[in-house]
Amino acid sequence: MPVSPPDKTISFVIKPVLFLLCLLPLGVLVWAVFNDMLGANPAERLTRETGEWTLRFLLITLAVTPVRKLLRSPWLIKLRRMLGLYVFFYASIHMLTYIWFDQFFDVDEIIRDVIKRPFITVGFLAFILLIPLVLTSTNKMIRRLKKNWVKLHKLIYVIAVLAILHFFWLVKADYQELIVYGLILLLLLFYRLYQQRKKGVY
Ligand code: HEM
Repeated sequence: MPVSPPDKTISFVIKPVLFLLCLLPLGVLVWAVFNDMLGANPAERLTRETGEWTLRFLLITLAVTPVRKLLRSPWLIKLRRMLGLYVFFYASIHMLTYIWFDQFFDVDEIIRDVIKRPFITVGFLAFILLIPLVLTSTNKMIRRLKKNWVKLHKLIYVIAVLAILHFFWLVKADYQELIVYGLILLLLLFYRLYQQRKKGVY
């Protein structure tokens, strides 16, 4: 039976290390910007990289529950909130790069784009749906909402499907990466359904 680290180790070692690790992708991007390493179209590269990191953090957050069960390490749940907040953090930077470099803060143009281009509509919807999850991520809200908190936070699966759709509509030729992310999400969704079935929900 795997042992759980003491609470102090989780709070003062594991969480700070994870916090810094999650900032690493942003650090690498900032470093690349200042060293002119983003290729011919740095703005597009920034939007793409931050979009991919948003999706990766989303899948990592969804993987916490299956991994903690497989490894029999319930303490891993204590890391989930931070990972979830990083989804929003990277999604915000991703959206900011779009608003800044694609649309130059032109609100009318952004609204038109959200209505006109399905991949932007879906990305925007995924971002909006993240907001209630962030606002209810505090201990106080978890206590206050009780069972409704669990129901509300199932939205994360909807967000993940929208994120894959957003990526799908964007890709024109090379589907390899999209297929990998899509298969990971499918696996996580099947696991979730399997768990619900075991509990007798379906
Ligand atoms: C949860 C929310 C979101 C996720 C997970 C996400 C994820 C992604 C991913 C994976 C890509 C493709 C990266 C690649 O080609 O390698 C992408 C591209 C893109 N996303 Fe998002 N996105 C989200 C929200 C948004 C929002 C809100 C907007 C703007 C309103 C947006 C605008 C874009 C644009 C413009 C690109 C294409 C960049 C380019 O090729 O020039 N995304 N996103």
